[in-house]
Amino acid sequence: MIKLAIIGGTGLTDFEGLEISHQHEVHTPYGETSSPIIEGIYQGKSLVFLARHGAQHTIPPHKINYRANIWALKELGVKTVIAIAAVGSIHPDMLTRDLVIPHQLIDYTWSREQTFFAEDLSEVTHIDFTHPYCENLRSQFLKAATQVDFKVHSQGVYGATQGPRLETVAEINRMERDGCDIVGMTGMPEAALARELELCYATCAIVANPAAGRSSTLITMDEIRANLKQSIENVRRLLAIVIDSVNGEL
Ligand code: HPA
Repeated sequence: MIKLAIIGGTGLTDFEGLEISHQHEVHTPYGETSSPIIEGIYQGKSLVFLARHGAQHTIPPHKINYRANIWALKELGVKTVIAIAAVGSIHPDMLTRDLVIPHQLIDYTWSREQTFFAEDLSEVTHIDFTHPYCENLRSQFLKAATQVDFKVHSQGVYGATQGPRLETVAEINRMERDGCDIVGMTGMPEAALARELELCYATCAIVANPAAGRSSTLITMDEIRANLKQSIENVRRLLAIVIDSVNGEL
């Protein structure tokens, strides 16, 4: 059984160094996953990788079949999910290309399929979501962060917006008042669905840009892509340490 999954976001559509052994096409009651789920060995550890936006990066955040993705990982025996996500920074200390391991989130998304407990219920189910991220996994990231020479913020509040457009200045100002430190489009309902299926889930966010109105220039996709490209090596270095420790525990 595979125990660990990586969900790659923008800037991480494949997992370099993974010795691929199998591609799973999992058909779920909720439809198809974003991409085939790639199984392989990384540093001697078996894991699976799923490209959230599709192998060619063609699925926008509001069209991702989050339920199928999470269901399929559970079906494959996954227990722990590391989600990689690009974000904009709201907090002034969170600089472009820093990494953030969020500890809380606020959901501003709408009209997404956000639960497995919607119909055909034997009883109404409300999951506990007080602490939306798996503290065990977060602490592995924080431990790994002490071994690297780039900035990893040990906490942050992730605001999940609907997209696909970026935010207005007023929206970012409101999010800041709400307590958000970073803003992204894919954090929800992914985290809640993982909790519904009792998966240990945490996010490693890459700051791709200052959020709207937080720099003197407008946000371009070229800027986001260039920053992600530069940070991805740091993500890989952090992941390599975490994968080593997480798999040891499973
Ligand atoms: N807003 C929302 N999502 C994002 C951003 C942003 O500024 N940057 C990368 N993903």
